[in-house]
Amino acid sequence: MKNIQSLLKQLTIEEKIKIIHGNGLFQNGGIERLNIPPLVMSDGPNGVRQEFQNDNWTPINDSGDYVTWLPSNTCLASTWNPELAYYFGQILGNEARGRGKDVILAPGINIKRTPLCGRNFEYMSEDPVLTGTLATSLVRGIQENDVAACVKHFALNNQEFERMSVEAEVDEKTLYELYLPAFHEALIEGGSLTVMGAYNRFDGDFCCEGKKLLQDILRDEWHYDGVVVSDWGGVHNTEQTALYGVDLEMSVTPDFDNYKLAEPLHEKIKSGEIPESAIDNKVLRILTLMSHLRMFSPVRRPGCFNVSRHQSIVEQIAEEGIVLLKNDKNYLPLSTGQNTQNPKKILVVGDNATRTHACGGGSSEVKALYDISPLLGIRMALGGNARCDFLPGYYVDNEKNVCGEVDWQADSLQTDYSKAENQSQFENEILPKRKQYLKEVLDAAPGYDEVIFIGGLNHAYDTEGFDRTDMKLPYGQDEVITALSDAAEHLTVILIHGSPVEMPWIDKVHSLISTSYCGMNGGHAIAKVIFGAVNPSGRLTETYPLCLADTPTEAYHSYPGEMGEDGHRHVTYSEKLMVGYRYYTSKDIPVLFPFGYGLSYSTFVCRNFRVTQRNMSSIGELQVTVSCEIQNTSSRDGKETLQLYVGIPEPEQPKMSLRRFEKIFLKATETKEVSLILTQKDFATYSIKRKCFVTNPGTYELYLGTSALDILYHTSIEITQEYAL
Ligand code: BGC
Repeated sequence: MKNIQSLLKQLTIEEKIKIIHGNGLFQNGGIERLNIPPLVMSDGPNGVRQEFQNDNWTPINDSGDYVTWLPSNTCLASTWNPELAYYFGQILGNEARGRGKDVILAPGINIKRTPLCGRNFEYMSEDPVLTGTLATSLVRGIQENDVAACVKHFALNNQEFERMSVEAEVDEKTLYELYLPAFHEALIEGGSLTVMGAYNRFDGDFCCEGKKLLQDILRDEWHYDGVVVSDWGGVHNTEQTALYGVDLEMSVTPDFDNYKLAEPLHEKIKSGEIPESAIDNKVLRILTLMSHLRMFSPVRRPGCFNVSRHQSIVEQIAEEGIVLLKNDKNYLPLSTGQNTQNPKKILVVGDNATRTHACGGGSSEVKALYDISPLLGIRMALGGNARCDFLPGYYVDNEKNVCGEVDWQADSLQTDYSKAENQSQFENEILPKRKQYLKEVLDAAPGYDEVIFIGGLNHAYDTEGFDRTDMKLPYGQDEVITALSDAAEHLTVILIHGSPVEMPWIDKVHSLISTSYCGMNGGHAIAKVIFGAVNPSGRLTETYPLCLADTPTEAYHSYPGEMGEDGHRHVTYSEKLMVGYRYYTSKDIPVLFPFGYGLSYSTFVCRNFRVTQRNMSSIGELQVTVSCEIQNTSSRDGKETLQLYVGIPEPEQPKMSLRRFEKIFLKATETKEVSLILTQKDFATYSIKRKCFVTNPGTYELYLGTSALDILYHTSIEITQEYAL
């Protein structure tokens, strides 16, 4: 292993500068003379992205870069299973290394503040504890492969609308209690070796160069000593970045010498405006990272990609990430109807039945080795003794946007790139097609035993760079579902989407399955859930509100912000902690489906609830254990997820906040004992005065349930002493 300090001493200013900025779209400059290789990065959260030319966004297209396509983070998080997050990370790290990468730009862990954010599918949840727990496991899995994770986007990157300039205005308590904890866990407990700064602004500065986030919080308070990478094009000011900002500046343009940490920095160092020592720490951190990744060592893990083990794990993740939301009269699972005299006739309707989603969404796009569509998965599960026909059902009128525009990233720094809408095209082309597709399915539906509608969103809506403008299903799908619910004898609805949608037809539908993009074997996983080979166990990681008007950012008029006199948009997070279920449960707002919700083909009963509280005052430790017995009362093996929420007796605190969860596997009729343990940290709030988390004496509520609304046990405990953390 090289001695990093002595290596630093041998570097000239020019060489140091080469190391701290991009010298390719996904790598910095290496120093051949000293055998320092470039640090090679790649997106992203759903698999290792295809190869691009070094200096432009044209894909190399040599067919050597097909990979395993993993489920989106929303799907992964819906498993509520940290072990699967760890395996997910292992695959991502293994494939990144297998493709010769040093850093994988994942996971994305921003809090889902509004359902409209275009990148929500890349993020995990509206809750920081769920996000932080899963991200920590994921990061550990990645980094076992001599590859660094890059947790992103630090911080407050909660909307895509004007993401390059918008300023997030958040009070300190909300920042520390809601938007920072998952980052703290992934970086400090999870040990992520790198973190990516965000595009947006906070506290008067861009996040990639502001003192408050990167110096005061990350370095001085958290003592984080990993590498901070800029988002691509997120650096604007040489001096500030040199003094407080990112260690490594990356961007989307090929004028590498003009990057702020390139020639402009060189000039300022030469003129004495910036001391050379300002960059030594950055170089040191990058070299230390390289040493951690064994880049100076003759022995390094080789990684591998496209192996069958990866494919079977991504299928398992998809299986557990699929959420059964409605199943009146236990209509699901469907039988495959193996009667050759009278073959079962199934009609599959909807564009998402045949669409594959790997190749879209922005930088998380993946060139999947293969991608099993739901229709293919269903036909493979059914075999030849049933008949399974397909009709598109609705017309996708923005095909161009669905699978990503070539070169979008080169233009991504412009703040005003937008999608054009055309009224006459709507009337002359789109509407007639919609009518025709609808008529086709309504004519056909009565002739089938089962109709399965597979719709939702796609990457024209779940995408980097744009937010949705409403929460409705696009392409007239509401009309198709409503009409089909009358026309079909039995209708099962499956929605594939990265963010909640309004469901005005919900009462007319008996069975509803929801999932985010679920990876290359997603079609198999969906078929297994429909036909019962898999007992669904996914749970929502965000609330599905009844309509957009019910969401907190609408109620508080706190999205998408307003133009300030300084010429850029400001968005004040005036809802404070009232995000997601914290808001709906505190204000008693009815929702479509609550946070944490999901059904199973099994039934479970919990009983014998107990709370024990221990004060180990000698070591200043509080321990509160909530226990119960849980039984699977059905004849099917299944999984239930218990969730423990805490209510804190302080002004402006929400009614409840998730603190612990556990997914429990129970064989048919089996009973298990479950204990969830809280410590003083779980009752703490951030004290602005004392600049730390404090648990105050008082009466705290405890809620144990299977969703934020399905509370099985509610009690309160007294905490009699203060704990400063
Ligand atoms: C995205 C990042 C991504 C980077 C590199 C940016 O547009 O915000 O998440 O990692 O591009 O492709």
